[in-house]
Amino acid sequence: MLLGVNIDHIAVLREARRINDPDPLDAVSLVKRARADQITIHLREDRRHINDLDALRIIENSQLPVNMECSIDEEIIDTVIDMNPFRVTLVPEKREEVTTEGGLDLIKNFAKVEKISKRLSDAGIELSVFIDPDMFQIKMAKSINAQWIELHTGLYSNIYAMLFSNLKNSPHSIKELDLPRNELKTKLENSLDELKESALLADELNLKVAAGHGLNYQNVKNIVDIPKIIELNIGQSIIARSVFVGFEQAVKEMLELCKK
Ligand code: PXP
Repeated sequence: MLLGVNIDHIAVLREARRINDPDPLDAVSLVKRARADQITIHLREDRRHINDLDALRIIENSQLPVNMECSIDEEIIDTVIDMNPFRVTLVPEKREEVTTEGGLDLIKNFAKVEKISKRLSDAGIELSVFIDPDMFQIKMAKSINAQWIELHTGLYSNIYAMLFSNLKNSPHSIKELDLPRNELKTKLENSLDELKESALLADELNLKVAAGHGLNYQNVKNIVDIPKIIELNIGQSIIARSVFVGFEQAVKEMLELCKK
């Protein structure tokens, strides 16, 4: 299993003080030293964490491929193509969200995404699309000529957290998932089945399959075990653990769990 380490949250910490440290660029060599496979960053329209200078310095200095997440906004696509990352992952973006909620709707945005796909292909940049585990979205990913899909594991992760952690009784409890345990268990099984079926379909269509969002040291195993998922992109939980054990160690521990 390949592991992309999403280092946005290092910039989140910096922006909490609006100073110059911690510098996300310092994470790049440590991700390589820990033997992970990819750097993932999200250049948001509002630049709330990673900014243009971060992105440029990371792309220029990284010995690992850089997977750049961005929205389908024309201006941000122009900027990202100029930066020439190894891969672009298109994600939906709403200014008011805390993090990426829900996958990109390729049906609704077909014309726009098809145009972006051509531009990326001309620039020699790989394309991935961050989508919900839904067969129509996967077929659409194929028809716009994406090379990768990244399956959104947010619903699975939220159900898992409501079942097995103390999230349920916390201020961050998820209202629509405040359900009896047996219902949550069924929902968890269903969400895993959807991910499995989606990965299989994508593989049949010759799409490479990544997954991510909300994955952590407790819940990642079920996703690692899904056939045809070959890459995970993980951020929050690795950066959170690095506060206690150090960044390189936190990456190494996740890599250990990612072994198929
Ligand atoms: N993959 C995509 C497409 C994302 O948008 C994010 C969040 O930025 C991640 C993976 C990583 O999610 P998390 O920080 O919850 O591990």
